Amino acid sequence: MSSEEFFNEARELLPGGVSSPVRAIKPYPFYTAFARGSKIFDVDGNEYVDYCMAYGPLILGHNPPAVKRAIVRQLDKGWIYGTPIEQEISLAKEIVKYYPSIDMVRFVNTGTEATMGAIRAARGFTGKDKIIKIEGGFHGAHDAVLVKAGSGATSLGTPDSLGIPPDFTKHTLQVPFNDIEAMTDATDAYHHNIAAVILEPVMGNVGPILPEEGYLQEIRTLTKENDIVLIFDEVITGFRLGMGGAQEWYGITPDMTALGKILGGGLPIGVVGGKKEIMENISPAGKVYQAGTFNGNPVSLTAGLATIEVLHRKKIHQKVNSMGDELRARLRDIVDDHGLGYTVAGIGSIFKIFFGDEVHNYQDALKCDSKAHLGFFGRMLKSGVFLPPSQFESNFLSSAHSTGDIEKTINAYEANLA
Ligand SMILES: Cc1ncc(COP(=O)(O)O)c(C=O)c1O
Repeated sequence: MSSEEFFNEARELLPGGVSSPVRAIKPYPFYTAFARGSKIFDVDGNEYVDYCMAYGPLILGHNPPAVKRAIVRQLDKGWIYGTPIEQEISLAKEIVKYYPSIDMVRFVNTGTEATMGAIRAARGFTGKDKIIKIEGGFHGAHDAVLVKAGSGATSLGTPDSLGIPPDFTKHTLQVPFNDIEAMTDATDAYHHNIAAVILEPVMGNVGPILPEEGYLQEIRTLTKENDIVLIFDEVITGFRLGMGGAQEWYGITPDMTALGKILGGGLPIGVVGGKKEIMENISPAGKVYQAGTFNGNPVSLTAGLATIEVLHRKKIHQKVNSMGDELRARLRDIVDDHGLGYTVAGIGSIFKIFFGDEVHNYQDALKCDSKAHLGFFGRMLKSGVFLPPSQFESNFLSSAHSTGDIEKTINAYEANLA
């Protein structure tokens, strides 16, 4: 069957025809047959250089052999036990080694569960109710954070979801990114009752937006002064910008960290990590309840360990980050040559062209021409390059991307932007 035929069938069975909103592409999404390295192949016989990379986890590309071997070895021994296993300790040691802000971890299954667990632990630890999040910051699809959230929620223009009673989100305050005054005003107004500030240190779900000089440090100081738990959501940036994520890149020590994506080597995972005094409140050590049948899944842990080993041994970040620098520079040349007035953004192996002026926060991102971006996405697909369709998502490089892939990509950008 063709992608179109599959989608027509899926629409009857799955809301919107898909299992997650960002996958709903008009008139229909391509259905993947298989993927290898930097390429993804659809059931219609097309091949694409992939920069969606499953929205971030695949820093080594699709099916890297070392990770595949580790997964197969684990499958031979079984894939879920419901008991503790050695890999929990091994992976926890790796995380603690690369993230000095983390003393202890709780393994969960998704980034959503990671931020949910971190917020609950922060509230349990401080005994306070409110949290501050950043407008356009996406922390997964749970009630407390689905307010002016990025990712699919932004694309669909429905940042607030039906089905969430206002009482559930009344404790969620919003401030713009890169605006320390707004953050200070919010903490002043509610400082006795703010449990946590949660943010992506580099925003990733409205396209990549970097923190301005000193912004993260000022937030660190402000939260410390007000006994507020600072949660870095590093679901995207963790093990992406470098082994130690954005906190290493910018030299900031949060109190808690949410990890996911790359850490599972492409299999479902999430991590709530933080200082011992906070983490020891999590059940069964403490009274903040958190549990899960699939927590610490042996296959995800094994894939994560293998991924971290390759990242370290092959110094992958140096490679992908310099590829990112080169790609962004060449994209800037194209944008300038054509006088488009667009903005090339990103950091390390993350990149994106905003179809608009400089972007410092969510409101700036919303001003971009997302309709033009969608048309561009379609043309790129026809040229054999798969980018996340939305203006509000980031593109990801992997170590599997070759010089040939980059040349093909640059040519496609040149042709389709012009
Ligand atoms: C920064 C951030 N936090 C949390 C999440 C949620 O992670 P998951 O999709 O694994 O639930 C995402 C997902 O894209 C994310 O980008």
